[in-house]
Amino acid sequence: MNVLVTGATGFVGERLVPTLLDAGHDVSVLVRDRSTYDAPDGVDVFEGDTLQPESLAAALDGVDAAYYLIHAMGGGRGFEERDRRGARNFASAADGAGVDRVIYLSGLGVDGDDLSAHLRSRREVETLLRRGDYDLTVLRAAIIVGAGGASFRIVRQLSSRLPVMITPRWVKTRVQPIAIADVIAYLVGVLDEPETADGTFQIGGPEVLTYREILSTVGRILTGREPYIVPVPVLTPRLSAYWVDLVTDVPAGVAYPLIDGMATDVVVTDDRIRSLVPVDLTPFETAVERALEEEAADR
Ligand SMILES: NC(=O)c1ccc[n+]([C@@H]2O[C@H](COP(=O)([O-])OP(=O)(O)OC[C@H]3O[C@@H](n4cnc5c(N)ncnc54)[C@H](OP(=O)(O)O)[C@@H]3O)[C@@H](O)[C@H]2O)c1
Repeated sequence: MNVLVTGATGFVGERLVPTLLDAGHDVSVLVRDRSTYDAPDGVDVFEGDTLQPESLAAALDGVDAAYYLIHAMGGGRGFEERDRRGARNFASAADGAGVDRVIYLSGLGVDGDDLSAHLRSRREVETLLRRGDYDLTVLRAAIIVGAGGASFRIVRQLSSRLPVMITPRWVKTRVQPIAIADVIAYLVGVLDEPETADGTFQIGGPEVLTYREILSTVGRILTGREPYIVPVPVLTPRLSAYWVDLVTDVPAGVAYPLIDGMATDVVVTDDRIRSLVPVDLTPFETAVERALEEEAADR
């Protein structure tokens, strides 16, 4: 199959490309700046930007399935508007090129007033991508555990840098993290399962944990002892974002929207995908150990 991966320089996209090649697909990528992308052998590289619609047609020509692995938080404030424009442009270009399928990795969380600006924006992108005449597969995930993932980086740096944490109430929020390898297995697996072609699916790892349990486990694996965690009710999302800004090196534009989302549970409530695309799910501790090993090897 001719497959296009957007966001190929990103945390998810850069791991997806080699796995698609191994699965026998013809792979091309869309990147904003080809000098920042080290293409594996056999991959066609197209330069393009979803905010510049005229730059998309060449990359989408002859493509059967396109992965949409883009978000605009890296550009700071106003990400919602950029994500909206980008998704609209991409949907119309994919439609014009006659693409059969688009696969989008979105965020997990129950629709409602509590949804953070980040998750609302992810949902809006789903709606805009659904306007195309192709089949749209949406996979929704919570924190993805892997070296370089922004949410995991926040958790890892908090756990290792603070032996005692005065934490916001969100440490009691329940979340279902998933290993990056399992996300990639789902992303590749849906291509071979026609029943996933036009649907929205929730993906998650084998455990539901609180952020407190996540911070404790990562702290124990990293330092040999669990951090002492004291949740206080008065730390607002804005204050906790400043706090994360002080302790971690995740850029504020990315960290703030993610922290905002930590106030609501992000747990799988519908696991239909398990019977359609069987994936042997990685336990949380194993996923953390693998992420830390990969980070150490990259240093
Ligand atoms: N990481 C997680 O824990 C997590 C969890 C749930 C869902 N997701 C979803 O997974 C998808 C991928 O996330 P990620 O963690 O891989 O993100 P990431 O590492 O931040 O990568 C984002 C990618 O988007 C590209 N991009 C941004 N604006 C663009 C534009 N205007 N035109 C073309 N490309 C553009 C970036 O390219 P440049 O190199 O040019 O900046 C980069 O390759 C997103 O939809 C995200 O919401 C991620």
